[in-house]
Amino acid sequence: MQESGAAALTMLLPELLLAGDRQLPTRPIPGTDERLAVVGLGNSRAFKGGDSEVSQRLLSTFLGHGGSYVDCGGQGAYLVASIAGTLGHKHSAFLGSYFSGEFRAQSEAAANRLRAIKGGRPLDLMHTYPEDGVPNWDVFREWQEAGLTRHIGLARHNVRYYDAMMKVMQTGTMDFVQVNLSPLESEAEDRILPMAMDKGVAVTINRPFINGRYFSIVKGRPLPAWAVEFDCTSWAQFSIKYILSHPAVTCVLTETANPNHLLDNLGGGFGRLPDQKTRIRMRELVQSFT
Ligand SMILES: NC(=O)c1ccc[n+]([C@@H]2O[C@H](COP(=O)([O-])OP(=O)(O)OC[C@H]3O[C@@H](n4cnc5c(N)ncnc54)[C@H](OP(=O)(O)O)[C@@H]3O)[C@@H](O)[C@H]2O)c1
Repeated sequence: MQESGAAALTMLLPELLLAGDRQLPTRPIPGTDERLAVVGLGNSRAFKGGDSEVSQRLLSTFLGHGGSYVDCGGQGAYLVASIAGTLGHKHSAFLGSYFSGEFRAQSEAAANRLRAIKGGRPLDLMHTYPEDGVPNWDVFREWQEAGLTRHIGLARHNVRYYDAMMKVMQTGTMDFVQVNLSPLESEAEDRILPMAMDKGVAVTINRPFINGRYFSIVKGRPLPAWAVEFDCTSWAQFSIKYILSHPAVTCVLTETANPNHLLDNLGGGFGRLPDQKTRIRMRELVQSFT
C-alpha cells in the first residue's frame, strides 16, 4: 500500500513541482551571507556537448525552482553562463568552474571570458583538481585576492585524493571542497566532512549515483516502505536524501541530460530528511544489493 502510494506520488511529482513553483531549500556557504540551494546540477552531457536546446530546458527548470549551483567545466561554462543570463538568472546562478594554476595565462583568459558573460562580476567559484598535491594553490589565492573570483576550492571524486585535499583544507585558505558521497561511497564521512565542518568549508557532493551505476544496482527493487518517513519517492531521491542528511553537506550535484530526471532529483531537496539511525539503515540496505 505504502509502495503504491509512493509510486503515485512519483508520477505526480513533476507536475507538483512545476505547478506549485516551489523553491528549493537553501543552506549557507559557511562564513558568508550567501546561500545555495541544496540540490545542484552537475556538468551535464548537454553542457559538455554544447546542446543549447537541452541545456536551456535543464537550466530553465533548475533555476526556475530556485536552483543555484551549476558545476561546469571547459567550454560548457560559457554556455551555462550565457543561458543563465538570458533566463534572467545572471546573478542567482552560482557557477563552479574548473581551472589550472599551471597554465596560468590560459586560465586567466578563460576566467575573464566567463566573467564578461556574467556581466563583469567576479566568478563565483574557481576550482582545481588535486593530483600530486596541489602545487599551484597559491595561484588560486592570488586570483581570489585580485577579485577574479569570490571563492576557491578543490574538487575530486575518489578517496585517493582526500589526503591532498585535507592538506590544503588544514591551511584554512579553502572555501569549497567537492567530494564523492552516496550510500555506496561513504568514506568522506570519516575524514573530509568532519574537517570541512571544523574549518568552515562549504561541501558539494559529486557521484550521488556513482555516475549512473547506482541505478543498475537498485533496478527492479521496490523502495522500502519506510522511505515514506522521509518523503522519498524514488531511488534517486533515496541517495540525495542520504547525502543531504549529513550536516556538513551544503549542496549535492546531480548530473543529468534528462529534464524528467532533473525533476526527480530536485524532488530530493524537498520534505523531511532521514535521521542518523535511518542513514545507517539506508547504507546497509543499498550495500546489501551489491
Ligand atoms: N571534480 C571532479 O573530479 C568530478 C568528478 C566526477 C563528477 N563531478 C561532478 O559531479 C557531478 C555528478 O557526478 P557524476 O558525474 O558521477 O554523476 P551522477 O550524478 O552520480 O550520475 C549521473 C548518471 O545518472 C543518471 N541519472 C541522473 N539522475 C537520474 C534519475 N533521477 N533517474 C535515473 N537516472 C538518473 C544520468 O543519466 P541521464 O543523463 O540519462 O539522466 C547519468 O548517467 C558531475 O556532473 C560533475 O559536475 C566532478
